[in-house]
Amino acid sequence: MELLALENIKKSYEQKCVLNKVNLSINEGEFFTFLGPSGCGKTTLLRIIAGFVRPENGSVYFESNNITLLPAEKRNVGMVFQNYALFPFMNVYDNVAYGLKNKKEKKKTIEQQVRKYLNLVRLEGYDKRNVSELSGGEQQRVALARSLVMQPKLLLLDEPLSNLDARLRDQMRMELKELQRKLGITTIFVTHDQTEALTLSDRIAVFDQGVCVQVGTPHEIYTKPVNAFVANFIGDTNLYKAKIENNKAILNHTTTLELSSDSTGDYISIRPQDILITDELRVAPNQLNGTIEKVAINGQLVEYIIMVDTLELKVIKLNTYTDSNDYVIGQKVCLSIEPKCIKILNK
Ligand SMILES: Nc1ncnc2c1ncn2[C@@H]1O[C@H](COP(=O)(O)OP(=O)(O)O)[C@@H](O)[C@H]1O
Ligand SMILES: [Mg+2]
Repeated sequence: MELLALENIKKSYEQKCVLNKVNLSINEGEFFTFLGPSGCGKTTLLRIIAGFVRPENGSVYFESNNITLLPAEKRNVGMVFQNYALFPFMNVYDNVAYGLKNKKEKKKTIEQQVRKYLNLVRLEGYDKRNVSELSGGEQQRVALARSLVMQPKLLLLDEPLSNLDARLRDQMRMELKELQRKLGITTIFVTHDQTEALTLSDRIAVFDQGVCVQVGTPHEIYTKPVNAFVANFIGDTNLYKAKIENNKAILNHTTTLELSSDSTGDYISIRPQDILITDELRVAPNQLNGTIEKVAINGQLVEYIIMVDTLELKVIKLNTYTDSNDYVIGQKVCLSIEPKCIKILNK
């Protein structure tokens, strides 16, 4: 069931268009992510949904009602800001209780609810602590509890993990997903981090300069990017400008690759894990001779930069204990690329 719909949203700042023709539909219970580089309009769109910014064109529908002009406080939407925006001179309890006090709820109800949500974000016993004495991760949880205690139908999270260090970020990512599943709350999550988006989301909307270029499941976005921007932004890829004709991609005067389909485009994309390093050239399409140029070990993976003539290819291999092939810089290797692994794309 659709909870939120955005229709033809447009917004400009100082004559610069920061959102254009955004159409999206978000379902009840979904974990939906806005993904895109910094400055592409994610926060602005979140603010439009929350009611802090008015679009110059288009409409916002919530449970089929047009709420485009409804003030923020009348919307059943909770927002966690990127910098958390906690009240610095209040303790944890008062921060979380703030919204309920404003709504003039009974003292007993407030107490019960604040306790419930502090427990939920694993901050039991923190109520008297001043928020300025908390770590980034703890502040993050207070901000989350402060939103959740209002029991919004829609939760908006603006890059909630970006201020945390790597280990804490991984942990909070798991907790956030778990919490969302437990509460079943419809969530819009904003990030510029593709790994976050891929691991957390039911569906992702990818933004490029204020335009939503693709909506899909993480699998769809990764395996069927609609254009070169998405292929390059989501996951690592080898992206080349190519002349496509007769089921072939001509990359330069020495390298031509066979393709599996006759679609048209001006770029090809090959994921680094789809290029195999082999011992000898096989009898198959797309067999190439290359030379190892760089090697980087990143724990589970080994990343190679391999030159095929003047063409630079990134290749990733699992760093397994049993695989004795550790290729060294300068070593000649054979490469194999299956035609079906080569995506043809437009810019
Ligand atoms: N209040 C504002 N006044 C002027 N320009 C703004 C304002 N808010 C955002 N912008 C501009 O709009 C663009 C999109 O910003 P934002 O939505 O914050 O992007 P993101 O969250 O994707 O990084 C940026 O170029 C930003 O500078
Ligand atoms: Mg932002």
